[in-house]
Amino acid sequence: MPRNGRDAMEEVAVRALQSLTPGGPETLSIREVDEPVPAAGQVAITVHACGVNFPDALVIEDRYQLRPTRPFSPGSELSGVVRHVGEGVMTPSVGQRVSASLPFGAMAEVVVVAADRCTLIPDNMPFDEAAAFQVTYGTVYYALVGRASIRAGEALLVLGAGGGIGLAAVELGKALGARVIAAASSQEKLDAALARGADAGVVYDRDLSNPARAKAFTQALKAACGQEGADIILDPVGGAYAEPAFRSIAWQGRHLVVGFAAGIPSIPLNLVLLKNAQLTGVFWGAWMARDPLAGAQDMRALMALYAEGRIRPLVSERYSLERGGEAIARLVSRGVSGKIVVEVISSENRTND
Ligand SMILES: NC(=O)c1ccc[n+]([C@@H]2O[C@H](COP(=O)([O-])OP(=O)(O)OC[C@H]3O[C@@H](n4cnc5c(N)ncnc54)[C@H](OP(=O)(O)O)[C@@H]3O)[C@@H](O)[C@H]2O)c1
Repeated sequence: MPRNGRDAMEEVAVRALQSLTPGGPETLSIREVDEPVPAAGQVAITVHACGVNFPDALVIEDRYQLRPTRPFSPGSELSGVVRHVGEGVMTPSVGQRVSASLPFGAMAEVVVVAADRCTLIPDNMPFDEAAAFQVTYGTVYYALVGRASIRAGEALLVLGAGGGIGLAAVELGKALGARVIAAASSQEKLDAALARGADAGVVYDRDLSNPARAKAFTQALKAACGQEGADIILDPVGGAYAEPAFRSIAWQGRHLVVGFAAGIPSIPLNLVLLKNAQLTGVFWGAWMARDPLAGAQDMRALMALYAEGRIRPLVSERYSLERGGEAIARLVSRGVSGKIVVEVISSENRTND
């Protein structure tokens, strides 16, 4: 195995799931592409698994903050084994097991990323869990610690609590000493959140467009959070859920704007004033790009929590690379608890790379 870049100029083709035209998951197709070669400061990774995240569905439709030039592969997190390293890379080294996050491009057999975006993964961490770890736990840790300065004993309300971000918020909220109130659209999703440590829960309506249902949602949240309300609301859902949830916020509460799975909401600003509250944006990917050292420090803290058994991604469904489009379609169906993973190398076909 060559240590730096590729020794010979041999043409090696690898497979990638690519977006050739804007559209839904059905527009993705498998193509053979030249194996990417790492430049200085980069590494090439033989990908074993990719975590599927909501932005994968948006980026292929040109509805995300990023608009990559086509053709490109979706996928913003992966795990695998370092195959080649570019000039100047001291760590990681060839053969090491790593996970990494990247703006897009993970759904391919070989992927090049900046060396400083890689995290070594422990021997006992399976590739599927490693691929389903960085984006959700990284985002939530940054939201709770970096943006909300969470304190032990605070009431943390998590919307969409059975989803990828939601379950990570439940687990990290508990690990950081909060009282966690989980809210989700089905008993099955709520049960997943309760099994991961939530103290209380609310099952909400799948359609809150009716004002009476929205009011009932606020009342249910107030009952579950207690008299003072929610000190922190972690909101990856938005849409018709954000305002009624905000109405349950405590004095000096913080509403963390994480995502818009149900659409982009607007909240009347008088509500923010009345509770002396904060509406706080969370854009983990952009923050990581601006401050990779701080991001790496968070990732080390998260790996320590994983090693202690206090957090662990719930990988609920697995798809092959060929079926990566189906995996994305399944995520947006709103029917999944936990994380979906695309296995690029299935566990049966694993070699030592
Ligand atoms: N800010 C950041 O840095 C950052 C980083 C990563 C992800 N995100 C965002 O966070 C959000 C959640 O991402 P995720 O990967 O956790 O997704 P996910 O696993 O699919 O979870 C999203 C949850 O949203 C709820 N939901 C409500 N309406 C929905 C709809 N119309 N379609 C689909 N889901 C709906 C669902 O829960 P219920 O059915 O229980 O309502 C679902 O479990 C996305 O908007 C994503 O873009 C933001």
